Amino acid sequence: MEIKGCIFDLDGVIVDTAKYHYQSWKRLAKELGFEFDEAVNERLKGISRMDSLNIVLAQGGILVTEEEKETMCYEKNEWYKEYISELDESELLPGVKVFIEGLRAEGVKIGLGSASRNAKTILKGIGIDHLFDVMIDGNDVSKSKPDPEVFLKGAEGLGLAPEHVVVFEDARKGLEAAITAGFIPVGVGSPELLPEADMHIQSFENFSLEEVLSQLDKSA
Ligand code: BG6
Ligand code: MG
Repeated sequence: MEIKGCIFDLDGVIVDTAKYHYQSWKRLAKELGFEFDEAVNERLKGISRMDSLNIVLAQGGILVTEEEKETMCYEKNEWYKEYISELDESELLPGVKVFIEGLRAEGVKIGLGSASRNAKTILKGIGIDHLFDVMIDGNDVSKSKPDPEVFLKGAEGLGLAPEHVVVFEDARKGLEAAITAGFIPVGVGSPELLPEADMHIQSFENFSLEEVLSQLDKSA
């Protein structure tokens, strides 16, 4: 088995922004008069802004019009943009930049596969967008994870078949998408939170693709 490419999710994999999404939803819930907890937040990872809002509203038992939903999404995103306005390299998750640079040096192609419409702005803001051969984000897809569209477009952009591409994901919905389309999935986080994946890493520090290859050999 040869690994020719890697596609990375953004929030919670490359940058530590999952906490800012959480804080923004929490703020919206508070304005609507209910508390929003971390367990529900786990279900929001990897899905679009509107899909997330629907889950938040369901938790609060709140019914609103489509127009009101648009306003709420807008508001949530304004708060989120405030949080990320001063994002810098310190918000990169440990080891990820060095890992990607190492892959590029070995000729492995690099893609982004994120549900976020803010993804390209974030990567440019941090100054690492040049490390990506292709960037697919929430603006480029019509179906959100667990639909594999975002990763399939990424693989197409890299000119690679999914079986040669590793997908790094911190969300269950994202792993489901990668598995459905035949990518090699790696969960970024614990096996308890991410039962879909067979392989997990807690951090990119001291991690190399050799580990993925040896696990694949064992399971073959
Ligand atoms: C995903 C996050 O990457 O992007 C979700 O895991 C988020 O929590 C989604 O809702 C959409 O992001 P944005 O930036 O378009 O609101
Ligand atoms: Mg994520």
